Amino acid sequence: MRILVTGGFGFIGSEFSSLAHKSGHHLTIIDKMTYAADTENLSPELKSKACISNLDISDSKTLTEFLSAQESFDYIVNFAAESHVDRSIKNGVVFVNSNVLGTVNLLEYLKNHPETKMLQVSTDEVYGSIDQGSWNEDFPLSPRSPYSSSKASAELFCLSYQTTHNVKVVITRCANNFGPRQSAEKLIPTIISSVLDGRKIPIYGDGHNRREWIYVADHAAALLRIVEGNPKHVVYNIGGTEMTNLELAAQLVQILGVPQSEIVHVTDRLGHDKRYSVNHSRFVLEFGKIQNDEIASSLINTVDWYKSNLEWLHRSQSRLSV
Ligand SMILES: NC(=O)c1ccc[n+]([C@@H]2O[C@H](COP(=O)([O-])OP(=O)(O)OC[C@H]3O[C@@H](n4cnc5c(N)ncnc54)[C@H](O)[C@@H]3O)[C@@H](O)[C@H]2O)c1
Repeated sequence: MRILVTGGFGFIGSEFSSLAHKSGHHLTIIDKMTYAADTENLSPELKSKACISNLDISDSKTLTEFLSAQESFDYIVNFAAESHVDRSIKNGVVFVNSNVLGTVNLLEYLKNHPETKMLQVSTDEVYGSIDQGSWNEDFPLSPRSPYSSSKASAELFCLSYQTTHNVKVVITRCANNFGPRQSAEKLIPTIISSVLDGRKIPIYGDGHNRREWIYVADHAAALLRIVEGNPKHVVYNIGGTEMTNLELAAQLVQILGVPQSEIVHVTDRLGHDKRYSVNHSRFVLEFGKIQNDEIASSLINTVDWYKSNLEWLHRSQSRLSV
């Protein structure tokens, strides 16, 4: 298949690109190369085979010029986004540009290319926060942060273009990812780098906020199954293993071999969602099991990767003020 991957130098986009490349697909990768991207996230072999462009999907003119010079695609997989809730709390504007306008620009391309389908990589955060039980795909969207609002808005544009213009879109709402090559600003890399740098481990508020965690390789594999398959639905939840932030930190601290007293509580995130939980039986029924390994072994792999890739970690840390 000919696949256009946006945000392919980021955390999940690079994992997906590597997997899709190994599976024999031909990739075109566009990325704005923000602080979250790293040129080394893709292998030299993949970079030599793929068509790669440094491009901002919110820049309609440049995007259109680039895409019109390409052979048409079977699939667009849209990872390109600003992805950090804390940054969206500081300033939401770039979230609207990249996450909403960028998606609409891709939908405009789909409007004129009925042969191309799009997979919109979205998040469980679009549902808001749930005290008990789990969301299925029919739950109303109730995003509570500027980040999740931008992702929910992008989804609504996808659905409206589907209704109005008959474009072919699939939307996935996935839980929190972790694994190699995740920007130093996110929770798990922050915990690991705090220990490696000899700093205390900061946990927001009481640490009782609950999230589901999925290993990035499992997420990428789930997305590829949709791209290669014949999805019967438009929206799929993709969940993981639920735990509190404190439980997660405690497991990592144990793996890293430092005392639990290294964990300190810091001022809570504004509007911090209490709990996310998705029911992903729709995906499992159609495409099979999602998680391959116990979360404990995936966390060990992740810690090992950061320990063996300190240069990558320091590069990522150095870009955070951008
Ligand atoms: N990380 C998670 O836990 C998670 C969970 C569910 C869904 N998602 C979604 O998955 C996607 C990828 O997330 P991630 O964690 O890999 O993010 P990331 O921040 O690591 O990577 C995002 C990539 O998109 C690129 N990008 C940003 N704005 C762009 C633009 N305007 N044009 C072109 N490229 C642009 C960045 O340079 C980067 O390479 C996002 O859409 C995110 O909302 C993430």
